[in-house]
Amino acid sequence: MQAKIESLRASILDAMEKTETGRSLYELKLSFQAELKTIMGGMKDLPKEEKPAFGKIVNEFKQSMEAAFEARAAVVKQLEMEKKYAAERIDISMPGRKYKSGALHPITLVKKELIDVFSGMGFKVFEGPEIETDYYNFTALNTPKDHPARDMQDTFYLAENLLLRTQTSAGQIRVMEAENPPIKILSPGRVFRSDDDATHSPMFHQMEGLVVDKGITLCDLQGMLGEFAKRMFNERTKVRLRPSFFPFTEPSVEVDLSCSECGGKGCRLCKGTGWIEVLGAGMVNRHVLENCGVDPDEYTGFAFGMGVERIAMLKYGVNNIKTLFENDVRFLEQFED
Ligand code: DAH
Repeated sequence: MQAKIESLRASILDAMEKTETGRSLYELKLSFQAELKTIMGGMKDLPKEEKPAFGKIVNEFKQSMEAAFEARAAVVKQLEMEKKYAAERIDISMPGRKYKSGALHPITLVKKELIDVFSGMGFKVFEGPEIETDYYNFTALNTPKDHPARDMQDTFYLAENLLLRTQTSAGQIRVMEAENPPIKILSPGRVFRSDDDATHSPMFHQMEGLVVDKGITLCDLQGMLGEFAKRMFNERTKVRLRPSFFPFTEPSVEVDLSCSECGGKGCRLCKGTGWIEVLGAGMVNRHVLENCGVDPDEYTGFAFGMGVERIAMLKYGVNNIKTLFENDVRFLEQFED
């Protein structure tokens, strides 16, 4: 029996030496316990007088093995820690991994800048709905059904009198209906038209402005636009008003800025004219004021509307509007700040 115990001791100690993980040590301990159980099971077959000596030997074997397991457990734990540290080792001489952060879209950047410039002049932001009624988008803006000006703004109709707005001008009506003058609002938003070429997209953004108060004149519009041009582009930017027509303004003007590329000498960007058309504007037509319950003999106002993509294209030298909507990361990355 003594010999059997010694050979078991030797083989378990030998296997123990080789364990490197807590798991394999645990499994070895289970098989040791099973062996021990079998040995102790043999005790019942021994003559009575041999039992105490046998018990003593087995007990000593059990205790010494348990001590050995405990000692090995401490070693294995250390080994496992070392392995873990080696696996998680960080080479601080390696170049770091660069994570790309997102950035604002150029349209958003320009929109924010425009809002910044105009709110600096006291404009409040009002956002109207993208789905509009025929009344707000056209009729109240002095563009009744069958008016030829509707042709230029053909759009997507959702129902007989419901459409995707073609212009943020619709917001002017909503504001004048809801508020009494003095009014000074800026209305940014998406607009939709059946238009599609290098400089037009079926969806684009506009920025509308409306000022209504006593004694507002075209000179106020011109002065404000001059300030806008300087703040949005640079100190040298000049403004030119040309007579035009919009059903909702009288008189109406087309507004040009001196070309930011050549400073007015004439280049490819301004097609040799030195000027670039950027927005439509005018004095609010008295019919529009009347439609909104504002007395045109007491109040006057000016309004303007510009394309945000157009401003972005000018500012960043982009020549195809589609580039702004393709979401090509190589293009968009250039606007990260
Ligand atoms: N709504 C016009 C358009 O989309 C732009 C415009 C012109 C807006 C004159 C105005 C304005 O407020 O007074 O073409």
